[in-house]
Amino acid sequence: MAPHGTHATRVAIVGAGPAGLLLGQLLTVAGIDNLIIEQRSADYVLGRIRAGILECTTVEALERTGVAARLHEEGLKHHGIELSFNGTRHRIDFHALIGRDVTVYGQTEVTRDLMAARQASGMPIVYEAESVSLHEFDGSRPSVQYRKDGVTHTVQCEFIAGCDGFHGVSRASVPEPSKQIFERVYPFGWLGVLSDTPPVADELIYASHPDGFALCSMRSMTRSRYYVQVPSTEKAGNWSDERFWKTLRSRLDPEAADALITGPSIEKSIAPLRSFVCEPMRYGRLFLAGDAAHIVPPTGAKGLNLAASDVLYLADGLIAHYQEHDANGLDQYSETCLRRIWKAERFSWWMTSLLHSFPDADVFARRIQQAELDYLVGSEAACRSLAENYVGLPR
Ligand code: APR
Ligand code: PHB
Repeated sequence: MAPHGTHATRVAIVGAGPAGLLLGQLLTVAGIDNLIIEQRSADYVLGRIRAGILECTTVEALERTGVAARLHEEGLKHHGIELSFNGTRHRIDFHALIGRDVTVYGQTEVTRDLMAARQASGMPIVYEAESVSLHEFDGSRPSVQYRKDGVTHTVQCEFIAGCDGFHGVSRASVPEPSKQIFERVYPFGWLGVLSDTPPVADELIYASHPDGFALCSMRSMTRSRYYVQVPSTEKAGNWSDERFWKTLRSRLDPEAADALITGPSIEKSIAPLRSFVCEPMRYGRLFLAGDAAHIVPPTGAKGLNLAASDVLYLADGLIAHYQEHDANGLDQYSETCLRRIWKAERFSWWMTSLLHSFPDADVFARRIQQAELDYLVGSEAACRSLAENYVGLPR
């Protein structure tokens, strides 16, 4: 008889990215037993370079779980962004327009803080789990199976949270006829570089240029994050640092181009851009959250914030179920999440359409794009709309 391990928990969480770790922490502080199953090692998860713009809702979620100390020490408050096009920069002043702001704090650091909290809580987390599979989530006795060190483990649970990202097993475990997929794949990607150089400006610069989009971001005042739009067929290996810096500089306004301090890249990678939503987000006792259910192009910096928003709704639904025997939060989960997700999908699509150079755009489309930019920076109402979406719509 092959060795077999059997475990029991209330909520089995598949995936230890931001969604899975944050859900685990929210349930733990509420006294609800949970177990996280992650296919990669902790170091591998921490090695992923992702965006770092936190809406206040995400900051509040981390505060609620007691995991916001370093964020408040090291995070950077940003009261606006700048749009650069036709050689000029235009500031979108969040503070003046809507009295709110965002916090710059890398997703890697959020993940690191949540991992440390998980370890301190003593709640179980399994890394390097192999062959993870979901079972009977359409019934009353769901379970998750995985292999670890040659032993097959079965986790009996009451709910499964599919927090395993776009390529995870959770959404894939749902029968195709039960899912409706909405998708837009963009004909370009973002080539990103991390460098230990001071940021080119105090706030983020989103640049629209006929040759392509560029973004100047940061992780701290000594570590910068830059992106340039590249064809979706491009490979990071085709890009020397010199070629990257030259391309970035060519797409910025003269002031930013002159101020840019270059240095050796410590990370260089290409991310594809897509908009994607899977409906619904609940299948019996399986709930999808974060990238497992939806993807946004990174232009609006919504990925991490949407994951946190889903997980807050799911945690509140599970807490109400267990503490008040109230199923309403869980029954409304998918509809509640999707209402906010689609608004973020719209904003991310709009900002991507506004700022990128589309290879199939005809001269009319390019004039419309230019008019959109000119109208935006000339209209307080339009700037207020961008600001309220960027800092995060109310939940
Ligand atoms: N079994 C267990 N774990 C899995 C499996 C599987 N079959 N497949 C994937 N995973 C793990 C991945 O290794 C990853 O650590 O699930 C985790 C999913 O994390 P993310 O992809 O980061 O997704 P999410 O937690 O929803 O966070 C969304 O992360 O990728 C960024 O841009 C995205 O900012 C957004 C945020
Ligand atoms: C980042 O810092 O990686 C970043 C910032 C803003 C975005 C996307 C990525 O819109």
